[in-house]
Amino acid sequence: MIALLRPAMLARSACRLVTVCLLGLQFGAALAQTAATFAADVAPILRERCVVCHQGEAAPLGLRLDSYAGAMKGSQKGPVIKPGDARASELAKRVRGESQPRMPLTGPPWLSAGQIALIERWIAAGASGGAGAPAAAPARVRRPGDPVTYADVAPILVGRCAKCHSANGIMGGPPEGFRLDTLAATLDPSDRVRVVPGNPPGSELVRRIRGQARPRMPFDGPPYLEEAQIALVEQWIAQGARDAQGKPAAIPVGARVRLHGKLAGPSMLDELQLRGQAGRIDRRTGVGDYVELRGTVAPDGGIVPERIRSR
Ligand code: HEC
Ligand code: HEC
Repeated sequence: MIALLRPAMLARSACRLVTVCLLGLQFGAALAQTAATFAADVAPILRERCVVCHQGEAAPLGLRLDSYAGAMKGSQKGPVIKPGDARASELAKRVRGESQPRMPLTGPPWLSAGQIALIERWIAAGASGGAGAPAAAPARVRRPGDPVTYADVAPILVGRCAKCHSANGIMGGPPEGFRLDTLAATLDPSDRVRVVPGNPPGSELVRRIRGQARPRMPFDGPPYLEEAQIALVEQWIAQGARDAQGKPAAIPVGARVRLHGKLAGPSMLDELQLRGQAGRIDRRTGVGDYVELRGTVAPDGGIVPERIRSR
């Protein structure tokens, strides 16, 4: 039927009508009558896709999306929601991709067409808060002794690192091809591994957040991570880099590593005891030097050095 509607403009408005109808069906008759509210409709989307970065002190541009008040306050640049005007609202522009970088910064996947339409509808109808809108994500509380899982470290790694280390980050592509926006990408051994489950000092990621490897991460620090955050990431790796369900990752036996740090002895990189001495040590390299080590991961997660040179 749409194919019969010409010119193209007519077809487009027909599509919009169809979309609206489909949305009506999707979200049910109740929603079609009551306006969307922050608490009931928008907060769940933000919580799932945005709050991991847009919360707390380190929120990008100061924009906090973990509460209605934060969303309405906007960023250092000003409000991102103009009640009644979804076209001109920066938040809607970002999720549509009209303003760059497109949000969520971890996309693709972007928000679904239905989610974008819901946010637009909410803004168009006046961006109301909704009854008793406590939208802040319930803080995850880990009891002492509980294993550390990806759910505990994702707010740190995605929240502080993925703005650069993602496909669509603020530096263009991910630096060194290293993405930190998902667990699979964080552990990906195909190029070289930066996280060796069970071996924190053998993990370049740990060396970078501690500042043993330069440049220290996050690259836009200071502030760097807090000591407690660094310790949590180290524990997570020491316990096998468990996924959110608590299952430890496999050791990527044979995967390549590239580590930076101080050569503390013929087979010591800082506190890391290497498996033997490197076959190739640069002639000018000596104990005490800041070095680059290339090697591989042993079956037990140890590091077998192949080549060491001063940096
Ligand atoms: C991986 C971290 C990350 C995630 C996830 C993320 N953002 Fe952002 N967001 C950023 C960064 C970094 C910036 C600053 C980019 C820039 O320089 O414009 C930003 C900027 C923005 C801005 C621009 C503020 C302004 O005043 O210009 C809006 C609006 C925004 N984000 C909304 C969202 C929404 C909505 C989501 C979820 C759908 C989301 N963000 C998810 C990191 C993130
Ligand atoms: C502002 C952008 C930015 C942020 C934020 C950032 N990085 Fe980086 N990261 C870089 C750049 C650029 C490099 C390459 C630096 C170099 O070696 O010259 C890099 C390199 C790395 C490397 C080395 C990769 C390899 O293949 O050896 C690791 C590991 C790393 N970052 C981890 C992190 C972690 C963890 C965080 C968050 C705590 C983080 N980064 C935050 C920009 C960033």
